[in-house]
Amino acid sequence: MEVLLARDYHQLSQMAARLVAAAIKEKPALTLGLATGATPLGLYRELVRLYQEGELDFSQVVTFNLDEYYGLFPDDPCSYHYYMETNFFQHVNLRRENIHLPPGRAEDVTATCAAYEAAIAAAGGIDLQVLGIGRNGHIGFNEPGAALNATTHLIDLAPETIRANARFFASINAVPRQAISMGMGSIMKARRILLLASGRDKAWAVAAALEGPVTTRVPASLLQLHPRVTVILDRAASRQLQGKANRDEGWPMCY
Ligand code: F6R
Repeated sequence: MEVLLARDYHQLSQMAARLVAAAIKEKPALTLGLATGATPLGLYRELVRLYQEGELDFSQVVTFNLDEYYGLFPDDPCSYHYYMETNFFQHVNLRRENIHLPPGRAEDVTATCAAYEAAIAAAGGIDLQVLGIGRNGHIGFNEPGAALNATTHLIDLAPETIRANARFFASINAVPRQAISMGMGSIMKARRILLLASGRDKAWAVAAALEGPVTTRVPASLLQLHPRVTVILDRAASRQLQGKANRDEGWPMCY
């Protein structure tokens, strides 16, 4: 696991965008796994900027999002479909047919989840998966528990996640209680993973994920078992790491 320290959120976003851009330049038909939430907003802004400056071409890139709230229509401003559309998709030259998100409404959830897994497999698997991390150590919406799901599934959101995500809704009561999320196996099968964390409210989850025991109680700790993970943290998110002593920004730490 390679851990890079950024001075602040802006630098974190630039470093993340450079890494994603390099992956697309190396493989123009990259299969890119995407996250939502506050953390990757700066990354999307940087990628849009690089596209507008003629530095990046998304015409062959294929995307798969991690998750979607269950019950929301794609045009609901709180849905992840809407988030991706407004923050990224409509600003770059991704082809519509290359964009995939779990549907928010599905008659047959089991079949829908299986179809999502099949689509990832048919695309050749995910080359690079971008992840944020929940304050409780979740990735995607794989919440801490005694056991974790391997594949795309319907999950009950943890009370802590509902509280944390209420900032994106009119009230906490409006936050959906369930989501469809890629599973831990779907994520771990990605050939490369980029985990981003910013802010002091992520410091506990980051330390538990990177330096704590591998446990389903901290889903992100399973990333310790993945052969190719890059983590980019700002100073605040790195505060509880023991291994960071005397390290300068941009200096890689290896775990
Ligand atoms: C969203 C996702 C979640 C978020 C996490 C952190 O697609 O997969 O795991 O990455 O909840 O959210 P923010 O970035 O809003 O703190």
